[in-house]
Amino acid sequence: MAHYLITGGAGFIGSHLAEALLGLEHRVTVIDNLSTGRFENIAPLTDHSQFHFAIDTITNEVVMDRLVSECDVVLHLAAAVGVELIIKDPVNVIETNILGTHSVLKVANRYRKKVLVASTSEIYGKSDQIPFREDDDRVLGTTTVARWSYSSSKAVDEFLALAYYRQKYLPVVIFRLFNTVGPRQTGRYGMVVPRFVRQALAGDSLTVYGDGSQARCFLHVKDAVRAIVALAGCPEAVGEVFNVGATEEITILGLAQRVLALVDNVQGKADGRIRLVPYEEAYEAGFEDMRRRVPDTSKIRQYVGWEPERSLDEILTDVIGYSLAAA
Ligand SMILES: NC(=O)c1ccc[n+]([C@@H]2O[C@H](COP(=O)([O-])OP(=O)(O)OC[C@H]3O[C@@H](n4cnc5c(N)ncnc54)[C@H](O)[C@@H]3O)[C@@H](O)[C@H]2O)c1
Repeated sequence: MAHYLITGGAGFIGSHLAEALLGLEHRVTVIDNLSTGRFENIAPLTDHSQFHFAIDTITNEVVMDRLVSECDVVLHLAAAVGVELIIKDPVNVIETNILGTHSVLKVANRYRKKVLVASTSEIYGKSDQIPFREDDDRVLGTTTVARWSYSSSKAVDEFLALAYYRQKYLPVVIFRLFNTVGPRQTGRYGMVVPRFVRQALAGDSLTVYGDGSQARCFLHVKDAVRAIVALAGCPEAVGEVFNVGATEEITILGLAQRVLALVDNVQGKADGRIRLVPYEEAYEAGFEDMRRRVPDTSKIRQYVGWEPERSLDEILTDVIGYSLAAA
């Protein structure tokens, strides 16, 4: 039994991770400032004798010092996440992601604790070299386009984590999540699947940004959690970077049609309407999007034998079921 500290553990992915680790009979402490995370995500865990929760920010070094000193492994997921949030609150995104990760690594180094750092497929930017391999070049736009600040802030996190590994021998592992979806993800900050499901269940039009021909691969959060747990337990993964994502590609227009078809099955309510919204209207003038984003997952398969297990229809059915239960 190990003691895991999950930063951002009241968030979408962090709360599933906490649940899975408790299920494996580990001890779990969560620190979360509830900025985008929600107490309801972890409320069912609070009765568990091996679960502890601190409502605080990861930049509070006094609290972090105590929590890190008491744990065996840090799973660092706390971050400001979501394309809309980057555009609405850029100072917070940059500061949270860079200063927060700096604080986590500094304290982990003080106590020589292993750290797994959550990174993102946004790292690859608008590269059209598909699929993305971990050692591929990054292709980014100019600094006046806000969306690239998220990619860059996460890249600084990766640089810093790898620097701690190389210079101070701190055991770190970096995992780059591609679009991860499932129950508890909120549509508030531009996440496409919960937004489509909410719109379809309400009988509203599904708003597809651009012409909808941009494609993504969607991974079930439970598959992402299996990958993180496997990497945490793999000594050979230390000092390495891993893609974690699904490889089944679908256009956003195709996704909207699939959501409508499934909601129709469940509820008989969706009326098949899809509304195309120009990027400038959805985000900001000059917004740039990637056409495709497909991971090469051969490295994580080779290290820990991980592959996604759940199909897109299973993911969407789970999200629809969750949204109906929450309504
Ligand atoms: N969901 C995805 O598709 C996806 C894709 C790529 C990367 N990621 C990464 O996975 C991680 C988790 O993302 P998520 O989708 O669960 O988002 P989320 O917003 O649900 O989780 C982030 C959590 O961090 C918390 N947080 C933010 N700032 C904090 C601070 N200063 N101190 C303490 N807690 C703080 C939030 O309250 C939230 O609970 C993030 O690092 C994100 O960059 C997610």
